[in-house]
This record gives sequence, C-alpha cells and structure tokens, in this order.
Amino acid sequence: MSIDNSSEAGHKPWAGRFTEPTDAFVEAFTSSVGFDKRLYRHDIAGSIAHARMLAHIGVLSGDECELIINGLKDIQLDIERDEFNWSVSLEDVHMNIEARLTDRIGVAGKKLHTGRSRNDQVATDIRLYLRDEIDLIAAEIKRLQAGLLDLAEREADTILPGFTHLQVAQPVVFGHHMMAWYEMLKRDHERLMDCRKRVNLMPLGAAALAGTSYPIDREFSAKLLGFDGVCENSLDAVSDRDFAIEFCAFASTLLMHLSRFSEELVIWASAQFDFVELPDRFCTGSSIMPQKKNPDVPELVRGKTGRVFGSLMSLLTLMKGQPLAYNKDNQEDKEPLFDSIDTVRGSLRVFADMVPAIEVKHEKMERAALSGFSTATDLADYLVRNGVAFRDAHEVVGKAVRLGVETGRDLAEMSFEELSQFSPAIKKDVFEVLTLQGSVAARDHIGGTAPAQVRAAVQRARDSC
Ligand code: ARG
Repeated sequence: MSIDNSSEAGHKPWAGRFTEPTDAFVEAFTSSVGFDKRLYRHDIAGSIAHARMLAHIGVLSGDECELIINGLKDIQLDIERDEFNWSVSLEDVHMNIEARLTDRIGVAGKKLHTGRSRNDQVATDIRLYLRDEIDLIAAEIKRLQAGLLDLAEREADTILPGFTHLQVAQPVVFGHHMMAWYEMLKRDHERLMDCRKRVNLMPLGAAALAGTSYPIDREFSAKLLGFDGVCENSLDAVSDRDFAIEFCAFASTLLMHLSRFSEELVIWASAQFDFVELPDRFCTGSSIMPQKKNPDVPELVRGKTGRVFGSLMSLLTLMKGQPLAYNKDNQEDKEPLFDSIDTVRGSLRVFADMVPAIEVKHEKMERAALSGFSTATDLADYLVRNGVAFRDAHEVVGKAVRLGVETGRDLAEMSFEELSQFSPAIKKDVFEVLTLQGSVAARDHIGGTAPAQVRAAVQRARDSC
C-alpha cells in the first residue's frame, strides 16, 4: 500500500482553529497511519454499525446511511485492491477513510462522525481487531494441541529419562512428556478465552470522553458488531488498554511455554542427546560447516519470546503514567500489540506444523534411560515394601549407586549377590522393579507416567474438546 507524505495530500478535519500548518516533521512524528492502517476492515465495520445506529435513531436519513455504507464498502475494496492512497497528513486510518468517504459521497460523508470521536472509534477498532485475532490464535492453539495428543498416543510406550536439574531422574514415557505441554497449552487457551470476555465489550458511544448529547442506542451498535455488551463508563472506555495488556500477558505466558519446549527440542536434537530428529524442512544448514543441521525453528521461537515480553512491558509502562481519559500516548499501544499478535501466530503456526513431524528415536531414548540410575527410586520403594523405612532405603540405594558409579554399571547390571550385600530386604525378585517398563507402569494413577494413564489422559483430552 502506498503512503503519500505530502502535506497537501489531505485537509485535516481538525484544522479549523489552527493558524499555521503542522511542522512537516511533527506531522510524520504524530502520524500512525503507517501501522494502524491494518485496522481498516474493523474501522469500516465500526463505521457502518455507527451509521446504521445513527439512522436508527433518526440522526441520519435512510438515504444518507445507504450512501455512507456503500461508500465505505467501496473504500474497503480499493484498500484490498491496493488502490487506496494513504496520506500521512491525514494522520491515521480513521481520518484517511473518513476523508476519502467525503471525497466520494460528499456531504453525507461529513455526517458519519456525528456523536463519535476518534477516541471511542480507535478503542472500538482495536477491540474488534483483537477479537478476530484471538479467535484465529485460539484455533491455532487447538491445532497444536491436537498434534500433541496424536504424538502422545503414538508414543505412549516410548521410554526416555525424565530429568530434574537436567540430571537423569526417573524414567517417563514420551507421551507423558508431550501431555505436559498439552496441559500448559490448555491453560494458555483458557487465559486467552478469559481475556476475550473483556476484549469483547464496546467503547463506541463514549465519544471523546464524556459520552454524547445525541440519543444514541449503544446496544444497537454493539449487537451489530457482535460485542457481548458495552463498556459502562465513558472515561474508562476511551482510556484504558488493560485488555491489550491482558492479551500480551497471555502471549508472554504462551511464548514462555513455547520457549521452554523449544529449548528441549534444541537439546534433544543435539548429537549428545540425539533423542529426536527434526525434519529437514524445519531446519537450516551452515554456510561454512557442511555437516550442520540447525534447529532454527525452535531457536527462533525461543528468541522471539523476548519481544513478546518486551511488548507486555511497553504496554504496562505506556499506561502507568496516564491521567484519565484518552491521551495520545495510547497511539503507542498498537505496534507492541500487533507485534505480539504476529509473533504468537507465527510461532504457533510453525509449532503446529512441526510437532506432528518430530521423529522420535526410541532406542536412543531407551539407552539414555538405562544409564544414570533412573530406577534408583524404584529400588528404594521396593525396599520400603519389604519393610525398610524410606530414609534407610534411600541410604541403601545410595550405596548401591556408589558401587555402580565406581564400576561403571547401572543397578540392573549388577548381580543379585552384589545388590543383596546392601540389605537383606533385597530378594531375587528385585530385578522386576529395576526394568524401565516396570518403573513407568508402576506410576499408575491420574497424573502418573504409566502408559495406561497417558492413554487415559489423551482420551479425556479428546472427550473434552
Ligand atoms: N491515532 C489515534 C490513536 O491511535 C487515534 C485517536 C486520536 N485521538 C485524538 N484525539 N488525537 O490513538
């Protein structure tokens, strides 16, 4: 879309009380059209609803209303065909569209802004825009979750070491690990839906700050625009951007989760772990090292997380010093919000595409689980079942582990004679609890890593969709 920078390009609707033209740099500095033109569809939808409402209360004639609506629809087509000349001197998306409307349809266009201000107009536009984006993002979270459920089901028996402190802790199944990410995304989705409730309220009718002297019917326009209700205080309606802050808080939490997931994928794809292979189409190479295949996608998602956190900080800082009601500061709400939306959408899309294509290296995972004494807790639990107090059992197993470290073997690789020297409670059946399969199968309660539990968790998740 082209932008006209010349001052002659547009007569400012507010120029009446001014005695000299705006300084050229100030014009560019204060203009937002370069980034708020992406609100055009929602600006036009808001204007159409406002025009219908004005006709409904008799402020516009039916003919004027039709002219306005048709004019706005034509403008939308022009914009979509890239035939709209955006003008910086007309400051923002709202004045650009309104000025073009008047150029096209004459005096009726000048009546559209009756009972309205750009302050309630912009707040309405952002909420409409954000609502649409929230719905797209929610669908993308669901797509990623569906991929995780399939992967979890497929890999419900695949054993890998579970870690704490990035040290081998206890065996878990890969499906259980994937379901952990599923759960985090479930909460992210809930947060997003909760945020949507507060986004989907209509500021229109607040006018500049105090409301308007026309007998407006706000419920009428709210219904046309699909809002759940109206903002109940005009000063609040035009000034607060807490709904955008909430969205960025949601986005930050989601990206924090995706960043952790990314970190695991990067570690797992390394030659040292070698737990997964990411398909070539999600990786890139090195211009100097021919052997390299780099996990760029998760690395970039991890990297992009910072800009979303930054946007949250920008918006919080933007609001914190503002007296009621609208201040021009609020024009700075858009770029952080838009950037967060774009980053969230891009990151979710690439993850939803990539996750089902992750190649799981079963043998590598199992081999890793067989080293690092991952069944040590199982041995301690076994001793407890045979009458040893847990603290004493812990001590016994610690000694067995020390022998393993000194001789370079895991517990299951020791002989019965070696193991039983640490406690008379160790019997010949000890080896049953030292297998990886026995270890995971034993954790057979809701939230545990037993394959049966993972399958049940996948089923519950599918049933609740
Ligand atoms: N471009 C402005 C914004 O983004 C629109 C509202 C401006 N209102 C005003 N009175 N200057 O916030």
